[in-house]
Amino acid sequence: MRTASAKKLSKNSMKLKTFSVQLLALAVCAAGIFTFTSSADAAQVRSRQEQYRPQIHFTPKKFWMNDPNGMVWDNGEYHLFYQHNPNDSHWGPMHWGHAVSPDLIHWYDRPIALYPDSLGTIFSGSAVIDHKNTAGFGKDAMIAIFTQHGEKEVQSIAYSTDHGLTFTKYEGNPVIQNPGKPDFRDPKVSWHEKSGKWVLVLAAGDVIQFYNSPDLKTWELTSEFGKGIGSHTGVWECPDLFSLPLGKKEKWVLLVSNGGNPGMGCAVQYFVGDFDGKTFKADPAPYPMWIDYGRDVYAGVTWSNLPQEKRRLFLAWMCNPAYAGNVPTEVWRSADTLPRDLKLIPHKDGYAVLSSSPAKEFFKYAGREIGKFSGKITDTQKIALINQKYNLQSDPWMAELALKLPANGLCDLILSNAKGEQCVFTIDKAAGKIRMDRSKSGKIDMPGDYAKVNESPLYTEKDEILLSLWVDHSSVELFVENGIAPQTTVVFPENIFNTITIRTQNGPCQAKLKAKTLDSIWK
Ligand code: FRU
Repeated sequence: MRTASAKKLSKNSMKLKTFSVQLLALAVCAAGIFTFTSSADAAQVRSRQEQYRPQIHFTPKKFWMNDPNGMVWDNGEYHLFYQHNPNDSHWGPMHWGHAVSPDLIHWYDRPIALYPDSLGTIFSGSAVIDHKNTAGFGKDAMIAIFTQHGEKEVQSIAYSTDHGLTFTKYEGNPVIQNPGKPDFRDPKVSWHEKSGKWVLVLAAGDVIQFYNSPDLKTWELTSEFGKGIGSHTGVWECPDLFSLPLGKKEKWVLLVSNGGNPGMGCAVQYFVGDFDGKTFKADPAPYPMWIDYGRDVYAGVTWSNLPQEKRRLFLAWMCNPAYAGNVPTEVWRSADTLPRDLKLIPHKDGYAVLSSSPAKEFFKYAGREIGKFSGKITDTQKIALINQKYNLQSDPWMAELALKLPANGLCDLILSNAKGEQCVFTIDKAAGKIRMDRSKSGKIDMPGDYAKVNESPLYTEKDEILLSLWVDHSSVELFVENGIAPQTTVVFPENIFNTITIRTQNGPCQAKLKAKTLDSIWK
């Protein structure tokens, strides 16, 4: 989200605000309200039921949200902080909202974690657990590293010794001063085991800067990456750096959100290469490569400190800055994608691609079967999805589909509802593309290229194409072949799509489909 200028807040009123919120949080905490079984949690989750409200994706209860921030696992909970305007359903003075989950599926609201102060509003950033007490705030303190957007963008830190419930800002802020750049933000920090140092990646204009620190307080610039490689159609934002196995090798992945990409608008590009603690070197590949080819994945980053070593979990803001302030959800604005497991997969042309699939927890969460088909389709096959338990047709659902198409096969997957609203994916084997058309998907009067057809590479030459579709009240996420080149899209139909029609052109296709219901996470 590119910004308007931040309003300066008076130092004293902010101090008072922070202090009273901390007092309130302490009182509430002392009263033991923040447990998963509390009536406060139960009441707040039951309230997210309005039209269009996603039922399997995180949304803030009220008002504006953009980027996920500070994602960290700690003490049995996945923490999700997020860019939040707690007073309006448009972008404005940013705070860090906060929610926690025991299982990545159900989310529970927590009080706002970070408020603006005299250095500026609170922009995107990350959080780590300081296991070795390098910063001196306490062993296992949770430390947030974030941009403050004031007259200039600078980097600050804050620490929590109560597992993220309350934060204290470091009195020595900012920890990284602005060298005179208008766009200088979104620090993502990780511990680099081999060099025994913290590494911070930062978006500076349209390059990424790398910093080192022994203690999270003093930072040294070590290198820059990005000139002449990848997409530079807008500023770079929200970087992330992590390693993943590729066969027996360890490779490093650099994620960069890129504003203003023609076609997709804003999206997350990635680079694969090597990192020695100071410098990132990208392997040759046909850059730019995107983690998701839909229009609605932005500012995505990964969780730190996960209990399962080698797991990389990604979450992104599921919207596009071009129209995020205009979507027809009056009470709240924006959802996150499903959490996604990331993996590196070798491409036949010798480079590595990053795949992302819904977190494995969601495959287990998928419940009763609500639709099934297996056979040959010569023209059109309609499959209505009905949740027999409740006799409803309004729950989110997922479907796994195996499709065998002729060599020049062209096949439409039409998701629709009784009102005739629809979102159509066209698999075009000859062109090696999947096109998505949401021009009849319900409310579409949004700025930018909202109703324009979008496309992703098909990335497979196999006879049988495996697809999974995850459908919520205002989104569709399509994954192909274990998550290479997904397409995520927001949609605003009056009622959730509850029918799939498979329509084949250029010859018959063979289809096998199984659909399952997904219970609301807010019930
Ligand atoms: C990305 C972004 C970040 C910034 C934040 C402000 O959407 O522009 O670069 O920190 O949003 O809300």
